[in-house]
Amino acid sequence: MTAITAPDFVKHQALINWVAQIAELTKPARIEWCDGSQEEYDRLIKLMIDNGTMVKLNQEKHPDSYLAFSDPSDVARVEDRTFICSEKQIDAGATNNWQAPDEMRAILNDKFDGCMAGRTMYVVPFSMGPLGSHIAHIGVELTDSPYVVVSMRKMARMGKAVYEVLGTDGEFVPCVHSVGKPLADGEKDVAWPCNDDKYIVHFPETREIWSYGSGYGGNALLGKKCLALRIASVMGREQGWLAEHMLILGVTNPQGKKHYVAAAFPSACGKTNFAMLIPPTGYEGWKVETVGDDIAWIKPSADGKLYAINPEAGFFGVAPGTNTKTNSNCMSSLSSDVIYTNVAVTEDGEVWWEGKTKETPANLTNWKGQKHDPNSGEKASHPNARFTVSASQCPSIDPDWENPEGVPISAFIFGGRRGDTVPLVSEAVDWVDGVYKAATMGSETTAAAVGAQGVVRRDPFAMLPFAGYNMADYFSHWLDMGEKVGKIAQENGNTLPKIFNVNWFRKDGEGNFVWPGFGQNMRVLEWIIGRCEGNANAVATPVGLVPTYQDLNWTAIDFSQDDFDTVTHLNKDEWIKELASHKELFDKLGERMPQELIDHADKLLAQIQAM
Ligand code: GTP
Ligand code: SPV
Ligand code: MN
Repeated sequence: MTAITAPDFVKHQALINWVAQIAELTKPARIEWCDGSQEEYDRLIKLMIDNGTMVKLNQEKHPDSYLAFSDPSDVARVEDRTFICSEKQIDAGATNNWQAPDEMRAILNDKFDGCMAGRTMYVVPFSMGPLGSHIAHIGVELTDSPYVVVSMRKMARMGKAVYEVLGTDGEFVPCVHSVGKPLADGEKDVAWPCNDDKYIVHFPETREIWSYGSGYGGNALLGKKCLALRIASVMGREQGWLAEHMLILGVTNPQGKKHYVAAAFPSACGKTNFAMLIPPTGYEGWKVETVGDDIAWIKPSADGKLYAINPEAGFFGVAPGTNTKTNSNCMSSLSSDVIYTNVAVTEDGEVWWEGKTKETPANLTNWKGQKHDPNSGEKASHPNARFTVSASQCPSIDPDWENPEGVPISAFIFGGRRGDTVPLVSEAVDWVDGVYKAATMGSETTAAAVGAQGVVRRDPFAMLPFAGYNMADYFSHWLDMGEKVGKIAQENGNTLPKIFNVNWFRKDGEGNFVWPGFGQNMRVLEWIIGRCEGNANAVATPVGLVPTYQDLNWTAIDFSQDDFDTVTHLNKDEWIKELASHKELFDKLGERMPQELIDHADKLLAQIQAM
């Protein structure tokens, strides 16, 4: 093994040995141990400006903010190149790509051999969860992408202090990342290096992550989906907690009573917007505060409550559609110190994306770095264009967002993007019914992943791309948690969170969204909180407990009973089809599917047929 010198602040010999071992394989020109300082950040930003990876934005309109254009082939997560390499295929399950660990290691050894030639390998220590907290987990990402380094500094607690927590022998998840574009002697780099051949690989048993060929988002910022969801979900199952694709928000009523809810919506289906909701006119005295917008780690307390933390430190959010009306808190968060990727830019150095303003500004440079032609029908920003910003800049950030104990959850909300079938809101009759609802959730696919757009697929718990193990076992884990924690809760006079299903995306005959959404989602949230407190009404239907028109608050909005019927009506034929699709999923998930959910499907089908 090549001897390498680590800086004084690194005292963990196994970590140093691992860095040496990966350097020997990937053969970088140099190694840089990141300390997370402002000086380091500024230096890497300057390097990327000089390389053409980034441009500096108008510093009056966007202080300390920068824009990167990715390669047009590298714009989103690659689900078909994402692998869960457990020893046994059955442990990865029917919804994950699997390859035998030995085979995959052979492929990776080949791919990573010399892949960092001519580049710097950065050692990036990070903590998911507040530094030093008992619920946090540490990772170290070795990457040849300076874009990843600066992004990780916003998205996680990154830098020198992590080594203090690690000490001489602390545990960490090793994460190896390469853009997969070695440079020959004297070869000039491209603005966004990447490789057409991509591998996003997880070894759940040994808790390792290897990512090759992409520099974008969840493919490359390995603390996020790879560690905080895929690897953490495996840890959670073993240790009795949950790692979920959920936002967390706190809602306070005018009497000062506060509840926290956690909500799982698939990628690009409104988590960031809901997490930062501003109560509309008519909701004076109500307050919504943000704990997280993408990931929740949820642990039971000794008295049977579920407490959630946001393991991230920043937001990597969808830009298109964001404006001062849809998400004013988000727009304020973006007032300075932002890294944008794949949005458009004006001549004046101001960012723009579809939906930011009504009018498209003249003379835009599009996300491909070309002059935007408004008549071409092409979008100026990529639909999965994103911003990266520290959570602490969000005006609605919750005072407890970094509390290592987490916040107590009163309700879980699951929501997909469905033009038909699924009503605006329904409440599960019990935990099993709630798990069934979450397990069978469908949603139209979005630009957050490469592939077909707008097709309904089953996305159980909004975790289809993120569960690090067999989805059927994941359902069992949820059922199990309900049973065990429910029992402890009961003994202590507590109750499990209630479970709800929402759909902001129901359309009319002309294909328009009927529900106004965004801030108006407060009306549904109020009903949900009311149900948790036992003072809101609901009627029973085969698909759960639902509000009638009279049960929601319509102060200061013109939303008729007819409109309400459009977003809530249940169609028997649609639901029979829906149940058939649930059954297809359960069949696909195979032998480990919990019988409880299969029986529940039969019961529901009978109720729907009797409708
Ligand atoms: P990831 O970061 O990909 O996990 O997604 P997210 O769930 O945080 O996505 P985000 O909140 O950024 O969703 C963005 C998309 O959802 C945009 O197309 C928004 O216009 C749309 N959206 C968000 N809230 C609503 C809503 O209440 N109604 C409607 N119709 N669209 C919404
Ligand atoms: C998602 O796709 O759900 C995201 C963005 O939150 S990424 O980090 O790219 O996965
Ligand atoms: Mn997400």
